[in-house]
Amino acid sequence: MFAPGRVNLIGEHTDYNEGFVLPLATEMGITMEAVLRSDELIRLKAVDLGKEFSLSLSELNPGDGKQWWNYPAGVFWAFLEEGYQVKGADLVFSGDIPIGSGLSSSAALEVATAAAIAKLNRLEVDAIKLALLSQKAENRYVGVQCGIMDQFASALAISGHAVFIDCRSLDHEHIPLNLSGQVLAIIDSRVNRSLSGTEYNRRREECREALNLINQKMGQKKSSLRDVSCIEIENARSFLPDVLYRRSRFVVEENQRVIETVKAFQSGDLSKVGQLMIDSHTGLSDLYEVSCRELDLLAETAWSTPGVWGARMTGAGFGGCVIALVERTEFPKLKSRILESAVDGLEQAPHFYVTEPAAGCRVKVLE
Ligand code: GLA
Repeated sequence: MFAPGRVNLIGEHTDYNEGFVLPLATEMGITMEAVLRSDELIRLKAVDLGKEFSLSLSELNPGDGKQWWNYPAGVFWAFLEEGYQVKGADLVFSGDIPIGSGLSSSAALEVATAAAIAKLNRLEVDAIKLALLSQKAENRYVGVQCGIMDQFASALAISGHAVFIDCRSLDHEHIPLNLSGQVLAIIDSRVNRSLSGTEYNRRREECREALNLINQKMGQKKSSLRDVSCIEIENARSFLPDVLYRRSRFVVEENQRVIETVKAFQSGDLSKVGQLMIDSHTGLSDLYEVSCRELDLLAETAWSTPGVWGARMTGAGFGGCVIALVERTEFPKLKSRILESAVDGLEQAPHFYVTEPAAGCRVKVLE
């Protein structure tokens, strides 16, 4: 079993607003070996951590917290909660996604577990359902209120493509990126994302509050910010508190940018893609306020480097990574420029990765 991590090209903090996102799967991921048991025991071995944990299906306890074993355990719980008949299993896994960098190592672990459970128990579960079960595990068992983007990309991506997802209907389209002369560089700021949990939940709350006010004052019944237009946001400025105005304006504009990015890829207009990435970062930094000094510094250094089409922070923010679309031949220069000029403003030297848009979860049956 292999489930990849994800990196988001554009469409940040839009998934929980029923909006649009454009992530892709990374080449890095979680590899898992899984064997069905005849009893109720779940035996987990995290090879990289050198740790093991066992519990029985009858001991599954939602809300147990963020310890590593709760991600796979939560997926067993999600299957049972939805009425699937599953047995225990031995799961041994390892991976190469940097943990805590916002590249969805947890979603990869959940999706690998979900695919393993389905395969071992011979259940007919399609890839969207695997993603939903994985998200349910994270929301309800681990207690992290994430949207659907990460698990969806890990379960459904195809090689060479990004996935354009409508997070309301879950309709999706694989968008060919045709990156022959360019690479996607991932620059890990290595800034601890300790704020991301509380601030993430606060942003979700702010979006809800903004929507409630818009509905109340404008006499409407919109179910999410996805349904609000740019003009409506400007009209709402008179009654929305400034923070809520900025949050909702970002979401509305970001949804628009995702649609424009898809069109720009389809017409091969990389300078448009790059500009949209830059605008997305600026909005995340100024309006949504989920960037940080280090991510701004990395993005700005990339913007001023020849051969870089665009760059932006990716993922929930408050640390984690910047993604840059850069000419393949210029990537070494980008790296050295960051290491020479930006590194003074950073606490730790960033890590660099390059990824091709990879395929989603793959299952290999060993006889
Ligand atoms: C995290 C969440 C996703 C999404 C992003 C922000 O990665 O898990 O669901 O909300 O943040 O775009």
